[in-house]
Amino acid sequence: MNTEKEGAAPILPPSETPQTGKECLALHGGEPVRRTPWPTYDKGAVFVHPEDEEAALRAIRSHLYFRYDYRAQRDTECGRFEEDLCRYLGSRHALAVSSGTTAIALAIMAAGVPPGSLVACPGFTFVATPSAIVLAGCTPLLVEVDENLQMDVEDLRRRWRPEIKAILVVHMRGFAADMEALTRFAAEMGVPLFEDAVPAFGAELGGRKLGTFGLAGAFSTQSDKSLNCGEGGFLATDDSVLYARAVVLSGAYEGRYRRHFPDGEPPIATDLDLPLLSFRMDEIRAALLRAEMKRLPIRLERFRGNYAYVARALADLPQIAIRRPVEPGAYLGEAFIFRVPGVDAKWFARALCCEGVDARNLGSDEDTNVRVFWNWRFLFGSRDVEEIKELLPATTRHLQEAIDIPLSSSLTTDDCDHLIGAVRKVAGALGSGHPAPAGTTAVGQ
Ligand SMILES: Cc1ncc(COP(=O)(O)O)c(C=O)c1O
Repeated sequence: MNTEKEGAAPILPPSETPQTGKECLALHGGEPVRRTPWPTYDKGAVFVHPEDEEAALRAIRSHLYFRYDYRAQRDTECGRFEEDLCRYLGSRHALAVSSGTTAIALAIMAAGVPPGSLVACPGFTFVATPSAIVLAGCTPLLVEVDENLQMDVEDLRRRWRPEIKAILVVHMRGFAADMEALTRFAAEMGVPLFEDAVPAFGAELGGRKLGTFGLAGAFSTQSDKSLNCGEGGFLATDDSVLYARAVVLSGAYEGRYRRHFPDGEPPIATDLDLPLLSFRMDEIRAALLRAEMKRLPIRLERFRGNYAYVARALADLPQIAIRRPVEPGAYLGEAFIFRVPGVDAKWFARALCCEGVDARNLGSDEDTNVRVFWNWRFLFGSRDVEEIKELLPATTRHLQEAIDIPLSSSLTTDDCDHLIGAVRKVAGALGSGHPAPAGTTAVGQ
């Protein structure tokens, strides 16, 4: 729910008061909080262990790379990975596929959402979400997010049209969406709800795993996700018909979909009335992912521990409004996001980078960040950027105020202390005249 008044506060220039000693910002020539690179997956900070490497090597040496060879489903790496996923998520079916994007598209297509339909999704997500809707032959209908960057159900109601045939919720940057409100609304409208749980594998809401609330949930195993094999993904569902159709669409040709139902008749009689899109996963990646699942709880614990440590240490800072979870602990912990209302967030992010902590202002006009909807030009034809921003003015404002810092699970306590020190130092340079709006400074746990 938006609690802020519509009239945005003016963006104030950062304090130019010259500081000295430890307080002098690195941006202004001072000593940075850290000199070593901030650990992120694209610099190799990944959670892969020798046992995982061995598992991938064993799969390579087996020379059985294709999931649909002579073996039964239960004897393949993909099949075993899917069994592990079902057990972990508590879902009836799981299907390993080539990416998170294809998992979303498969869910929409397999559910029978008619091509040409509108599919509602939040205006704050990665470009892959609307892209997956397009891939499924549908059109994204963007919905405002609130100051905590959560899909705004009231705005969804305002924008509702009969052409909307599904809702695609996103647990963006690992934060659970408000599933209670959204599932209630989807039921009221009589449309299926899908979850883009790509960045949230392992996170929970009310003791239930994200990705298991909707008709189907989609996940990614691309490099910085809870499970990481470079590329890949999977979908989870309790709906056996949707699952069978997704299996066929993903590329189980000439009756191979039957192997996914070893204990009985598949719920669809034929695979010949569906196209085959070759969105399959291979055995080498599945072997790596299966091995990684064994250490997933450790990784999740690190994400959560680091996040809680950082959020607690910065909860009292009046200059920042930490993104509030819909329920205590309802996040993965892969990103620390806060807004700096009334302050130039581009400057804030730049100052943090100079202190040695990777940070970006999500709504900056100075980069081509594809987490902002106005950079999804493929949806808007020839409209110019300012006109596109006007379509979702609240989302635009919140993103322009938002700072995003990636929290790799490999962060040490020293790394977390650097982050805390850097945010405090940069906020301190603003002085104390920039209180965050009431009700938005959250203890992130
Ligand atoms: C919210 C969201 N949805 C979908 C995707 C796409 O996943 P993939 O790269 O596996 O296709 C991403 C990728 O990071 C994402 O962040």
